[in-house]
Amino acid sequence: MRLNDPVHYDGAWHVYKYSDVKHVLMNDKIFSSNPGNRYSNAGGISFITMDNPEHKEFRDISAPYFLPSKINDYKDFIEETSNDLIKNIDNKDIISEYAVRLPVNIISKILGIPDSDMPLFKLWSDYIIGNKRDENFNYVNNRMVSRLLEIFKSDSHGIINVLAGSSLKNRKLTMDEKIKYIMLLIIGGNETTTNLIGNMIRVIDENPDIIDDALKNRSGFVEETLRYYSPIQFLPHRFAAEDSYINNKKIKKGDQVIVYLGSANRDETFFDEPDLFKIGRREMHLAFGIGIHMCLGAPLARLEASIALNDILNHFKRIKIDYKKSRLLDNKMVLGYDKLFLS
Ligand code: HEM
Repeated sequence: MRLNDPVHYDGAWHVYKYSDVKHVLMNDKIFSSNPGNRYSNAGGISFITMDNPEHKEFRDISAPYFLPSKINDYKDFIEETSNDLIKNIDNKDIISEYAVRLPVNIISKILGIPDSDMPLFKLWSDYIIGNKRDENFNYVNNRMVSRLLEIFKSDSHGIINVLAGSSLKNRKLTMDEKIKYIMLLIIGGNETTTNLIGNMIRVIDENPDIIDDALKNRSGFVEETLRYYSPIQFLPHRFAAEDSYINNKKIKKGDQVIVYLGSANRDETFFDEPDLFKIGRREMHLAFGIGIHMCLGAPLARLEASIALNDILNHFKRIKIDYKKSRLLDNKMVLGYDKLFLS
């Protein structure tokens, strides 16, 4: 598609090249993230589906708590959690026993969910991220919302309490807005990080000689995995707020634009030998997006992945995936393992 039809129309626009994907994401006034009236069920999840200035007002509430310097305060906690989890993963599914649990434990700590509420929170987040789908959702949701109301009033520390005390320029946040905000932080941070951890194991399985270099430059390895096997392959929701052009194709007001991060990250006109895994590239990948919606949790994901890489490489003598027992996710948008066993 990059070579033959890089801006393709089939009812929506599909954008594949690095420069075009970046153009769409950087021009947030033209390419809105707000589905608006296009869909009747447009109850978007918090600020990821808002445009500026509203988006910024919401994002700024928690942004200071996701800066690398703040996230670094959680380093010891992430290391302890990773250490505890990794002790029990031999012969088990690494996704469910480690890669899912690590980010959920960390984000609940950052949000300020008390330990005793962890099982309920874990169940709630399973429903929200779609790991679990059944008729009990309403029951679990109601219980979690009433617990959140209590936590909002308590004096625990964490982003939940920051949200409780914060207001927008002209008004307070509604309870619905606060709950959606928490949901976004859960959705944004969990499955994506899980998949990044699984994809790092895939890279090591495919390049067994890379282990020493990976340990020497953990952050370089994490960045290259994000580029090479991007956990989010495309972003489906940009909407043209006015007529404009992408690479000489006329986009009309109201058109939907889908940007392919995974393709942009393999664009041969931007990356040298894009299909080779090379630690230490200088060009910036787009796995976290770019522009005003660029991933809020990127510093957290990077730290978690770097600790996970260290612990996984130190725990296992060799890394060979058992391809008979392992399975990729059946989802074109997210790239990662559903089940992952080592042989
Ligand atoms: C490897 C892990 C992750 C990947 C690949 C990833 C990817 C992304 C991408 C591509 C976007 C841009 C969406 C858009 O432009 O529409 C985004 C936004 C976002 N991510 Fe992440 N993410 C990851 C981890 C996290 C974590 C750990 C959090 C924790 C809280 C998080 C929270 C968010 C939030 C809140 C947004 C919305 C930002 C905004 O609209 O301003 N993400 N993420």
